[in-house]
Amino acid sequence: MLRIKKASFFGCYFHLDDIPRLPQVKVVFAGRSNVGKSSMINTLVNMRNLARVGKHPGKTRSVNFYLINDSFFFVDLPGYGYAKVSKKEKARWGSLVEGFLKRERFIKGAFILLDIRRDPGEEEFMLMDFFRSRRIPYVLVLTKADKLGRNQRGKRLKELSEILSLESAFLVPFSSKTREGRDKVLDIISSMTGIKD
Ligand code: GTP
Ligand code: MG
Repeated sequence: MLRIKKASFFGCYFHLDDIPRLPQVKVVFAGRSNVGKSSMINTLVNMRNLARVGKHPGKTRSVNFYLINDSFFFVDLPGYGYAKVSKKEKARWGSLVEGFLKRERFIKGAFILLDIRRDPGEEEFMLMDFFRSRRIPYVLVLTKADKLGRNQRGKRLKELSEILSLESAFLVPFSSKTREGRDKVLDIISSMTGIKD
């Protein structure tokens, strides 16, 4: 399992041209606004406030880099699908995320976050297609798993693996509240990146 000994904020970028081209390994976190990307990063690194968590969705509007163990990056991507921002702002986020994903050569793995209570939409399928076509390993993280009881969750996992045509090994229930799924995700990051500790 990956051991995170150190994590620090590295930079936030609002425009593609501002994002530095760096050869270090990157692991990206993508998903709808409010799904829990920033919370997940905080849970993984064991820090309460490394990534800013929003009371108001649409909090993360930039591509944010966090430097892990002085050697590689977690990248928090702006959430898509938040209704209350202007069309222009949405288009900016879309092209920022898309531009970054297409340009970046050092993504070794991706987490696509989906609220365990929701069905995946066009965006999630697009992300999966994208990572598949680039041969970037990805895993679906089912966030806010604490919101469902045992039975409901079992049912949901079955439904989602059918909708997504994914083996349940690629679906990881996760909760930033109970920290469920943390160790599993750290293991997955190890195997994606080859970094052991
Ligand atoms: P954007 O930055 O808008 O894209 O959102 P985000 O995906 O970074 O979500 P964020 O981590 O800011 O969390 C959104 C809200 O969901 C916050 O109010 C969190 O406290 C809550 N939340 C996140 N993860 C969990 C979880 O595992 N369980 C529960 N119950 N609430 C969560
Ligand atoms: Mg965020």
